[in-house]
Amino acid sequence: MSIKKIIPGKLGFGSAPLGNMFRNIPDAEAIATVKAAWNEGIRYYDSAPFYGAGLAEIRFGDVLSQYPREEFVLSTKVGRVILDEVEDISKRDLGEKGDLFKYGRPNKIVNDCSVDATLRSIDDSLKRLQTDSIDIVWVHDVAQDFYGDEWLNMFESARKGAFKVLDRLRDEGVIKAWGLGVNRVEPIEIILALEGAHPDGFLLAGRYTLLDHDRALQRVMPEVLKQGLGIVVGGPYSSGVLVGGSHFEYAPATPEILNKVAKIKAIADNYGVSMKSAGLQFSLANPAVAAVIPGASKPDRIAEDTEALNAIIPDEFWEALRVQNLVNPAAPLPIDNK
Ligand SMILES: NC(=O)c1ccc[n+]([C@@H]2O[C@H](COP(=O)([O-])OP(=O)(O)OC[C@H]3O[C@@H](n4cnc5c(N)ncnc54)[C@H](OP(=O)(O)O)[C@@H]3O)[C@@H](O)[C@H]2O)c1
Repeated sequence: MSIKKIIPGKLGFGSAPLGNMFRNIPDAEAIATVKAAWNEGIRYYDSAPFYGAGLAEIRFGDVLSQYPREEFVLSTKVGRVILDEVEDISKRDLGEKGDLFKYGRPNKIVNDCSVDATLRSIDDSLKRLQTDSIDIVWVHDVAQDFYGDEWLNMFESARKGAFKVLDRLRDEGVIKAWGLGVNRVEPIEIILALEGAHPDGFLLAGRYTLLDHDRALQRVMPEVLKQGLGIVVGGPYSSGVLVGGSHFEYAPATPEILNKVAKIKAIADNYGVSMKSAGLQFSLANPAVAAVIPGASKPDRIAEDTEALNAIIPDEFWEALRVQNLVNPAAPLPIDNK
């Protein structure tokens, strides 16, 4: 079933920061952030075993298990199994973003997209999330940024393992939907053309944002629409830099990126538009997009997000972005839907 029919509302909550990404977040602050999301009416929650080696799922479980399960939609991921065995985090070799969760739990993380690992990973997630069902399962990071030159081998292993298991679980009604959860466009391009795998949508992070959207716009969005699927936009703030943070793509932003953000911000300031509104409403203007899921580790962020989603943006702001070539001329904007 297309994820567009499953996900309630346009705004979800992403839990990567709650895995202690970038800093050691006190439990109380993490819990207060999830509660703030619930109290603001957010009903779609995304997590992954990778986020702090189980930490983000455990924190979700602590809060979300207090609410009726049928009132919210939950997604998590497969592709990495978290062991009970602990390891020296500084010695982990998990690719270019491997030390992203250096403040997370020290449990050993095993990359594995086989049939057995997929089933085990789902079982483990159910326990950490304190639930008996997961609505959407994303196959996590089978892409260049985590596997380098080996990424196609990992994708092939997922094709023979995770994709088949998830097709079956969805067809049996155990889960409602599945797809890829990736920071790169290419794996989605491949699976969209693949015979024998039938995903329901994709979590594409950082690649359909105000800052960075060219390839997805051309290579993925039209085909996703044609096949009746949907995209969840992860990392809509490009991991923070768009809205005042210092990271782009989970690393310190380069001068080039900061320069582009400054140009957009100058126009936003001119029209009294917040960068959050611009970012969220840009991503949502593409008809292939089902929802945006910003991440946060501070409770105050959530009210900012909901306000940003609903703020009225003057048409002139979007026109100025187009005139100054700060968005792809073919990218749909909210003014095009009027
Ligand atoms: N491969 C995948 O499947 C994949 C990859 C990436 C992301 N995702 C999903 O997408 C979700 C969102 O991505 P993300 O969390 O990485 O990035 P994001 O939503 O683009 O940005 C989140 C960051 O923005 C910061 N931020 C928010 N408001 C701010 C403000 N007013 N001033 C300064 N900074 C602000 C937050 O900081 P604080 O922490 O201080 O609140 C947080 O670190 C993830 O949580 C995850 O669920 C999936």
